[in-house]
Amino acid sequence: MDTHNLIIHFIFLIFIPFSSSSFTPTDNYLLNCGSNNNATIFNRLFIGDDSTNLGSNFLSAEKSISLTNQNPSPNLATLYHTARIFTSKGSYRFTLKQNGTFFVRFHFSCFKAQGFDLKDAKFNVLVGEKLVLSNFKLNLKPSNDTVIKEFILKFESNLLEIVFRPVSDSGFGFINGIEVFSAPEDYVVDYGARFVGPFGVREYKNLSNVLETIHRINVGGEKLTPFNDTLWRTWIPDKDFLVFKDAAKAVVSTHTPDYQKGGAAREIAPDSVYMTAQEMNRDHNSILASQFNITWNFSVDSIGVRHLVRLHFCDIVSPSLNLLYFDVYINGYSAYKDVDLSSLTFHMLASPVYVDFVVDSDDSGVIQISVGPSDLSSSMRMNAILNGAEIMKLLNVTDSHVAPRKKKLLVLVGSIVGGIVVLLLVIAVFLVCCRRRKMKPKIRTVGSIGWTPLRMFGGSSLSRMSEGTAYPSPGSCGYLGLKISFSDIQLATNNFDESLVIGSGGFGKVYKGVLRDNVKVAVKRGMPGSRQGLPEFQREISILSNIRHRHLVSLVGFCEENSEMILVYEYVEKGPLKDHLYGSEGLQPLSWKQRLEICIGAARGLHYLHTGFTRGVIHRDIKSTNILLDEDHVAKVADFGLSRSGPCIDETHVSTNVKGSFGYLDPEYFRMQQLTDKSDVYSFGVVLFEVLCVRPAVDPQLDREQVNLAEWALKWQKKGMLENIIDPYLVGKIKDRSLKKFGETAEKCLAEYGVDRPSMGDVLWNLEYSLQLQESGQEVNAITNAEVNVTSTT
Ligand SMILES: *[C@@H]1O[C@H](CO)[C@@H](O)[C@H](O)[C@H]1NC(C)=O
Ligand SMILES: *[C@@H]1O[C@H](CO)[C@@H](O)[C@H](O)[C@H]1NC(C)=O
Ligand SMILES: *[C@@H]1O[C@H](CO)[C@@H](O)[C@H](O)[C@H]1NC(C)=O
Ligand SMILES: *[C@@H]1O[C@H](CO)[C@@H](O)[C@H](O)[C@H]1NC(C)=O
Ligand SMILES: *[C@@H]1O[C@H](CO)[C@@H](O)[C@H](O)[C@H]1NC(C)=O
Ligand SMILES: *[C@@H]1O[C@H](CO)[C@@H](O)[C@H](O)[C@H]1NC(C)=O
Ligand SMILES: *[C@@H]1O[C@H](CO)[C@@H](O)[C@H](O)[C@H]1NC(C)=O
Ligand SMILES: *[C@@H]1O[C@H](CO)[C@@H](O)[C@H](O)[C@H]1NC(C)=O
Repeated sequence: MDTHNLIIHFIFLIFIPFSSSSFTPTDNYLLNCGSNNNATIFNRLFIGDDSTNLGSNFLSAEKSISLTNQNPSPNLATLYHTARIFTSKGSYRFTLKQNGTFFVRFHFSCFKAQGFDLKDAKFNVLVGEKLVLSNFKLNLKPSNDTVIKEFILKFESNLLEIVFRPVSDSGFGFINGIEVFSAPEDYVVDYGARFVGPFGVREYKNLSNVLETIHRINVGGEKLTPFNDTLWRTWIPDKDFLVFKDAAKAVVSTHTPDYQKGGAAREIAPDSVYMTAQEMNRDHNSILASQFNITWNFSVDSIGVRHLVRLHFCDIVSPSLNLLYFDVYINGYSAYKDVDLSSLTFHMLASPVYVDFVVDSDDSGVIQISVGPSDLSSSMRMNAILNGAEIMKLLNVTDSHVAPRKKKLLVLVGSIVGGIVVLLLVIAVFLVCCRRRKMKPKIRTVGSIGWTPLRMFGGSSLSRMSEGTAYPSPGSCGYLGLKISFSDIQLATNNFDESLVIGSGGFGKVYKGVLRDNVKVAVKRGMPGSRQGLPEFQREISILSNIRHRHLVSLVGFCEENSEMILVYEYVEKGPLKDHLYGSEGLQPLSWKQRLEICIGAARGLHYLHTGFTRGVIHRDIKSTNILLDEDHVAKVADFGLSRSGPCIDETHVSTNVKGSFGYLDPEYFRMQQLTDKSDVYSFGVVLFEVLCVRPAVDPQLDREQVNLAEWALKWQKKGMLENIIDPYLVGKIKDRSLKKFGETAEKCLAEYGVDRPSMGDVLWNLEYSLQLQESGQEVNAITNAEVNVTSTT
């Protein structure tokens, strides 16, 4: 997939607003085969393909017969009353106005007439030279007298030929109805799917195969017919596929989903799919003992065949953002860990997304899909959901007719050697270009850098841009998608207008800006000309380009032109937590609940840094100025300039110059010069006391024993008299148990030795517990400490 295409997708998404009007395919052919008459089914007109009709333009066959069912069953739609029989090769030809992805559907029904019994037919069907049905024989289920075969394929040609060819000379093929229509743009994107298997999760890059639909499921909902679907698809309920029915509980929302750019587009699945789901059924389980999966078994008829599994999600179960974290498994393999719909949907509830997975079927004959709570979910709110599932077979379309063409190709090869030389030259130039790009900024410090075009969260599969993508390095031009030109940045900041400065620091100045696409950003510009902060600059890009998380400020792009070092971040509306604590410019004091939620959010962000996809990134500069609040007071951890990956001993030149901010710095790091994630835990402990007491980490103007907040607060905490030093605004507003839990948590964070400090995961859990104690004192009192400890160990 080239950048050019990505950019086109991006532009498409930005400038074409999603409308609620239904989809109109550019090309749309519907044929009622073997008939003079038009047939209407689900409000769609299928044109008769017989000689006297318009549809006959499409047919091209030496010998073919129109057949009519003399005794159709009363419920059988007219489309199925007639069939066209091919006793030798025959075809339909359609001219296409547009290249792209198409739906091709074949309608079949069996009957006997004029000596033909349709169930004896055995034939091949080729679509655009691709063999999609091989030795096909109609196999009707007793409950059903029709069969629809649906294929989704790409064409780059203005003529599409569909060929029917009997398998033996005396045999025949037949067809009752044909649909060929253009799919919405980006319906299947051939990169970004998650390839799941015993090897872990990789990116699957080539979905341009032919897909055959096997299952299409409206999870938690009712059957949807072509009436209910803009692409005239049929979705069936999931109940019969549930392995353990009591594990799941159907949920229904009455609100239409919030479609967003970057999420699933309206045509991907109808509203009704996203408005219903199955969630974990905890009716018969105590709150704390609920660790289980919801599992579905979907039968697939072939072993060792690749399948595309498209899962649809829309958080219609959570009362607010950021409560739902779950894991997805396919065939028992971890397919997507810690799915966080809040961040996948850019902080919107009830906003549809889908994720594409690719998996090979095994000898069990089923594809098994499970969802279950993730380690990140709060033990009070374990849940997992699924709204829809589609399983499509990736057809292996190499057929016998391709072989002779290969031979012809070989002959051709000789004559095009010249062309190849040119091609090789082009490749050489490309490789040199990539190498140079790779070498210029030496930024591949944090393991593999995935191809994460953050701003190009394009048409579909969110797996492309989401956190948790464990894709190997693309081995090509790394962060290309994140580059922003200097002129665009000048435009965004009104040429670095001083009135737009929102901050300044060691690195340089931070400006508020607006990009062309109206995205508000914060532009951090290194001192022009100075390359001093280069390592920090590159580190920040390498870390942030890998991350998208609700509680971490995300990188929109960067610029490295004219010896400038510029980082462009999402703009976080309400600025640093510090300003809110110390009430600058008449800001309202934050309530205790707000403060707890902010601490929980920041802890979640840090926990993700320590344990998530990037694994082992240490922030190194946690303080109240580096925790930003958005318009809803959601905390976002910022400033990764000092971050580094993995616990390790600092380089010698750094060891004489321990980095971090005074007052927040881990004393052990000071002593040992050894950096671990527990150093962040220490700094976070200081932030916790700062939030509670509203005192700076260091205040040289106070008495000696009070200068250092950590020491001062610990002293009171140990005496059990923490309430004496809390923010006067909070006096009388914190429930005792909540304060006690909070104080204990902060105290543990500030333990002298890193090994004695809790992990960020534990801190997170304890803060959530403190919030629970504040919110619903009575209810939670019943839970004993023993129970709590059991669940907090992950
Ligand atoms: C079938 O529909 C087409 C397109 O609307 C129309 O031109 C044609 O006359 C119809 N044929 C019959 C037999 O009604
Ligand atoms: C019969 O099969 C068709 C196509 O496979 C499907 O649309 C329809 O819902 C089925 N009918 C029943 C009663 O299962
Ligand atoms: C479709 O693709 C083919 C081959 O790439 C090209 O020749 C043709 O012009 C394209 N047609 C349209 C309508 O873009
Ligand atoms: C993708 O798969 C198709 C069909 O199998 C094949 O023709 C094509 O060369 C593949 N493309 C890449 C980039 O692997
Ligand atoms: C599907 O369409 C039918 C016919 O228009 C309608 O009666 C039914 O309520 C629709 N179902 C849903 C879930 O929208
Ligand atoms: C579901 O599939 C698994 C194999 O993947 C099998 O062991 C299990 O028995 C199946 N369960 C049901 C209820 O079909
Ligand atoms: C959920 O299913 C996966 C895959 O089968 C399994 O590894 C995991 O332990 C299950 N989780 C629970 C809580 O049962
Ligand atoms: C497709 O078929 C070819 C030849 O039969 C085989 O070598 C190849 O492994 C198949 N590919 C897949 C993905 O099944």
